[in-house]
Amino acid sequence: MVTPLSDMVKPLSDIGAAVIGSGFIGTVHVEALRRLGVTVHGILGSTSERAASRATQLGVPRAYVSLDELLADDRVDVVHVTSPNQLHYPQVKAILAAGRHVVCEKPLAVTSAESAELVRIAAASDRITAVNYNIRFYPLNQHLHGAVRDGALGDIRLVTGRYFQDWLFLDTDWNWRLDPEQGGTLRAFGDIGTHWVDLITFITSQKVTSVLAELVTAIPVRQQPSGPVETFSQERSADTIPRAMSTEDIALLLLRFDNGARGSVAISQVSPGRKNSLQYEVDGSAAAAAWDSETPDHLWIGHRDRPNEILQRSPALMNATGSAAASLPGGHVEGFGDTFHALFRAIYGAVSAGQLPEHPTFASFADGHQEMLLGDAVLRSAREGRWIDVEESAA
Ligand SMILES: NC(=O)c1ccc[n+]([C@@H]2O[C@H](COP(=O)([O-])OP(=O)(O)OC[C@H]3O[C@@H](n4cnc5c(N)ncnc54)[C@H](O)[C@@H]3O)[C@@H](O)[C@H]2O)c1
Repeated sequence: MVTPLSDMVKPLSDIGAAVIGSGFIGTVHVEALRRLGVTVHGILGSTSERAASRATQLGVPRAYVSLDELLADDRVDVVHVTSPNQLHYPQVKAILAAGRHVVCEKPLAVTSAESAELVRIAAASDRITAVNYNIRFYPLNQHLHGAVRDGALGDIRLVTGRYFQDWLFLDTDWNWRLDPEQGGTLRAFGDIGTHWVDLITFITSQKVTSVLAELVTAIPVRQQPSGPVETFSQERSADTIPRAMSTEDIALLLLRFDNGARGSVAISQVSPGRKNSLQYEVDGSAAAAAWDSETPDHLWIGHRDRPNEILQRSPALMNATGSAAASLPGGHVEGFGDTFHALFRAIYGAVSAGQLPEHPTFASFADGHQEMLLGDAVLRSAREGRWIDVEESAA
């Protein structure tokens, strides 16, 4: 019999985790969990040799040889899924069937049919489930979410922004994300665009209802190395195979939100010099706010009738939502790795309490599914050259 969630209350120090995938982001998960005081009992990789070598490097005691072996380890309460996208659906299904909590990397799945099924299974599972949209957990983004909810910007009218990277700029840049079988039919939008939309949806509490999209494949043929390549790795194999590209390097979107607000965003993985630059501006009927992920401790607040302000991240200056996500005093800049710590603190708070908080600020599987439905609309809009309404979630 499966133990009800409410009977699973335990202190943080007694909660055990395991991480699937030990590449770029799996490593960030392991480090953030350790900082939180959660024991990482083991990792699972693409091969047992690779997992064993990564476990040694990371100081994790065990490398599992299979998901079955991981799920047979009864010290593991929560499983983090940081494998390539196409593995999220089968792995999450197996983890929930084994009665464990799940933190799944974005995107939740590679199709909306899969993500809809995961929403249903998660709802029936009585377990804590979350999608790892970590950018919400820069403390100033949590602060702005609370400030917008409290009316600080007035009615939201316009949201604009971009998410630019340059790590896929060369035709010799390669990663599994370029293969639609592993990454999904949408690439720049699925990989980073959904981060931007999730963040904006979270900050404004407004869903995207329709989209007009243009998708551009700037590099139609890429050179695939004959060996494996880790994300953001600089190593290049001399032997390559030319591969025709079907996924987009650039996505341009016009958006309509459910309160009538309008938006636009440009997404690119081929913008030279932009390593990981997410920016947004939210314009309301009372004030505006703007943020840049490369200067994450500063939030610009725009006014019509008085000087503009810069709010510097500080637990002493932010509202309660913002302060709850901060760990360091103002002036001690918090960055990418800290967002994982803040996000896991919120998720593991729920695991430890045996219940979700009244207003969770982390992304649910329903939020992850919403991004997949938006992706369907983006793809259809780009193919048909017209506005497409985002399907209402039936899950
Ligand atoms: N939230 C974020 O900011 C963020 C950032 C980067 C990546 N991601 C997401 O994390 C996931 C991983 O991306 P990455 O950049 O770390 O990729 P990566 O290629 O660096 O790492 C992927 C890992 O998965 C492992 N793997 C492959 N097949 C496996 C299998 N069958 N079973 C277990 N492990 C397997 C690989 O060995 C590797 O360790 C993706 O879904 C990506 O979208 C999220």
